[in-house]
Amino acid sequence: MSVQYDLEGQKRAYEKWAPIYDRVYVKLLADAHRKTATAAAACGPDILEVGVGTGLVLRHYPSTVRVVGVDLSVHMLAKALEKVREEKLSHVRAIVAMDACRLGLPDAVFDAVAVPFVITLVPDPEAALDEMRRVLKPGGEIVVTSKMGADQGFVAKVEGAVAPLVAKMGWSSDFKVSRLRRWADKAGDMSVIDVQPTFPVGFFKIVRIKKAG
Ligand SMILES: C[S@@+](CC[C@H](N)C(=O)[O-])C[C@H]1O[C@@H](n2cnc3c(N)ncnc32)[C@H](O)[C@@H]1O
Repeated sequence: MSVQYDLEGQKRAYEKWAPIYDRVYVKLLADAHRKTATAAAACGPDILEVGVGTGLVLRHYPSTVRVVGVDLSVHMLAKALEKVREEKLSHVRAIVAMDACRLGLPDAVFDAVAVPFVITLVPDPEAALDEMRRVLKPGGEIVVTSKMGADQGFVAKVEGAVAPLVAKMGWSSDFKVSRLRRWADKAGDMSVIDVQPTFPVGFFKIVRIKKAG
């Protein structure tokens, strides 16, 4: 059975978000964005950012790396291109329209794949992760940052209680870190090596998944 993609729906949603996205999210996501860029850059110079959006993460990479940013929404990408030009982000080598589940990129060319605030929006996250694994060099890492629910315990109970409110903000707790662990176990050569809760109060998580060298 094939997964039905509502890619057009996503594109329409982000066409509306593009003009206001930065004003709403720049401060709220800054800490997570900075830590995502730092974790990705620590893996090596060649970085793919999936779901680059308006490019809010791009300014946080050091100038020594080479970043390719891809996203489904040309309206979000237009904002990213504006930033690359205005802020002279010469480490950004390409900004391209692409679906996370069909990356038109060669095998094993990136040291890191950064995935900030995207994985929970993709209808088939495992298919997207398979693609990221394919383009990753041996020893490289996928760095997934998102609102991810705790698997169990007190935090999971609190998240359950505030779930309806959080869902109104577009952040579901349904996507758990254990889903990434299950995918990594199945892939065989991938392992979750770090889960870093981040601002605010661990609400967002940064998960590093390493490919065997
Ligand atoms: C919440 S925004 C995050 C943007 C940016 N990463 C950030 O952290 O500010 C989600 C982005 O994911 C993109 N997106 C959603 N589904 C996608 C897919 N299947 N492939 C590529 N990008 C996708 C949207 O177009 C949007 O730009």
